[in-house]
Amino acid sequence: MPGKKKAKKIHEKHGFRPGESLRVLISEARLRGRVKELAKEIRRDFPKHELHLVGVLKGSVFFLADLARELRGEVSFDFIGVSSYGSGADSTGEVKLTKDLDVSIESRTVILVEDILDTGLTLKYLLRIFEEHRPKHLRTVVLFDKVERRIADVKADYTGFPIPNEFVVGYGLDFDQRYRNLPAVCVLRLSSNKKPKEH
Ligand code: IMP
Repeated sequence: MPGKKKAKKIHEKHGFRPGESLRVLISEARLRGRVKELAKEIRRDFPKHELHLVGVLKGSVFFLADLARELRGEVSFDFIGVSSYGSGADSTGEVKLTKDLDVSIESRTVILVEDILDTGLTLKYLLRIFEEHRPKHLRTVVLFDKVERRIADVKADYTGFPIPNEFVVGYGLDFDQRYRNLPAVCVLRLSSNKKPKEH
């Protein structure tokens, strides 16, 4: 289905507010296909391991749910919550833990599951605290990577899609907690008085 038709369908089903419009960037089918491939890549690197996925709330929930179902072999999962202090130019780069892990990651093969890598400050912080818990292996998988925006020196081990520096919503990603439930990933266009906060 061409992009405009898909966006129209999404608008009809999920609605949108005045001053906001959406353009499909990555369709459901492409998301599904890439998540399948990521699951294969991870399993190829850790063929016999019990994989423990840790999703970063809340953006990674659909990605983690789909990835976990595509992975063969033993899989368990947990979630961690974070929020950042400040944003954009006034960012302190500090990240606050809002929900800790439920189970220990010590001596486990851990795959940290993030929705999007932007400045990289969140991932860098999480990797530092995860390392302190001495997992056997620690790898990161991110579904989207805005390479241009990187501030922290950090790279994901597995990446779904490099994307341009645009604000995206859907498949877990939000704007003011809305649009997470869109099945595709869309660029959100706002009239100038409604700009999203810089991440
Ligand atoms: P980082 O610490 O700057 O890499 O930020 C990562 C977090 O910012 C992600 O986990 C998202 O929650 C959020 N984020 C960054 N870019 C976007 C976007 O385009 N849409 C929605 N959330 C975003």
